Amino acid sequence: MRAWRYCQHDCGHVIAAVSYAAAALGWQTRLAEAVADDAVAGLLGLDRSEDFGGAEAEAPDALLWIGPPRSSPELERMRTALEKAQWHGHANQLSAGHVTWPDIDSIHIATHKAHTRERPSPDPQQRPSPAPPSLDLSFAAIARQRRSAVNFDGTTFITAAEFFSMLTCLLARRDTPPWNVLTSPAAVHAALLVHRVDGLEPGLYILVRNHEALAALKQSLRPEWLWQKTGPDDLPLYFLLPYDLRAAAKSICCHQDIGADSCFALAMIARFEIALKRPWCYRHLFWECGMLGQTLYLEAEAAGVRATGIGCFFDDEMHTLLGVKDRTWQSLYHFTVGGPVEDHRLSASTPYEVPP
Ligand SMILES: Cc1cc2nc3c(=O)[nH]c(=O)nc-3n(C[C@H](O)[C@H](O)[C@H](O)COP(=O)(O)O)c2cc1C
Repeated sequence: MRAWRYCQHDCGHVIAAVSYAAAALGWQTRLAEAVADDAVAGLLGLDRSEDFGGAEAEAPDALLWIGPPRSSPELERMRTALEKAQWHGHANQLSAGHVTWPDIDSIHIATHKAHTRERPSPDPQQRPSPAPPSLDLSFAAIARQRRSAVNFDGTTFITAAEFFSMLTCLLARRDTPPWNVLTSPAAVHAALLVHRVDGLEPGLYILVRNHEALAALKQSLRPEWLWQKTGPDDLPLYFLLPYDLRAAAKSICCHQDIGADSCFALAMIARFEIALKRPWCYRHLFWECGMLGQTLYLEAEAAGVRATGIGCFFDDEMHTLLGVKDRTWQSLYHFTVGGPVEDHRLSASTPYEVPP
């Protein structure tokens, strides 16, 4: 079951990676949010069961439009053009055997998406304008050198300015990649367990990415929280509790040391009601989390530190810490950022041919 969730996270990472790469070339990317899964399956040839012999069915995730920066995404034209395409050849079989995972089939069926109404596109005049990185590295260098940290040193501090800059990049600004991909409002917020940020008291913070959620969060979480506005005026960051949360972070991250040894760890919490009412949104919530993760991967790298996705976490423990008592909010993905320690048992080779 966890594999299904990781695939959704990965899809969010991919959506963000494509959006950043397209923006680096001057293009914009848009997720076709209205399109039905069956339509995407048709476009990708995944509905040709005769090809798969019933054994290795594949499921579509997302359809992305990539185009010039100043035009409105032509999702409908893209779809009709692709529908006229003709399939050739046959899918090869990846594995001789097949293991049945009934829970994965269940969640797949439960989150199947039908066609929905297209949201109006934001102003097409807006151009992608990536925030300037803290270090003087090109986007290409950052994207190529990005890796997950396998360990953190437990001593590195980042500055408050670097921390605020990373969080600013997580805000769903529609003119900035990767957020220009989405038209739906931000549904995921970041609960931050801060350990080592110079000039910032260790403790629990929350980045409220959509102002409309503020009242509901205040109502659902512990009444004791301070809700003290912190950082730059335009950063919706609130200080909830001064406390050394290193042990809690480690335990919430499935007892992984990186939770405690990082500069900060975070939980991405989403209004779960959205998925309860429209189950296919469950996938989209995970994608939004993956996009936050990919942004952190790149921003951490740009700040001279490193990040790691935490797909293994205890959601109930995180809910207890925050004071979530019902199913209103759900922790869907965790992340850590800190000073990396190389693991010399791992051998590394250059992943990409670097152009001269
Ligand atoms: C969705 C997701 C969940 C992950 N969960 C964990 C985790 O719980 N613990 C960990 O140490 N690394 C975790 N990682 C990091 C992966 O191990 C790492 O991305 C993978 O080994 C590929 O390495 P790279 O990121 O350096 O390319 C996760 C990464 C992703 C994208």
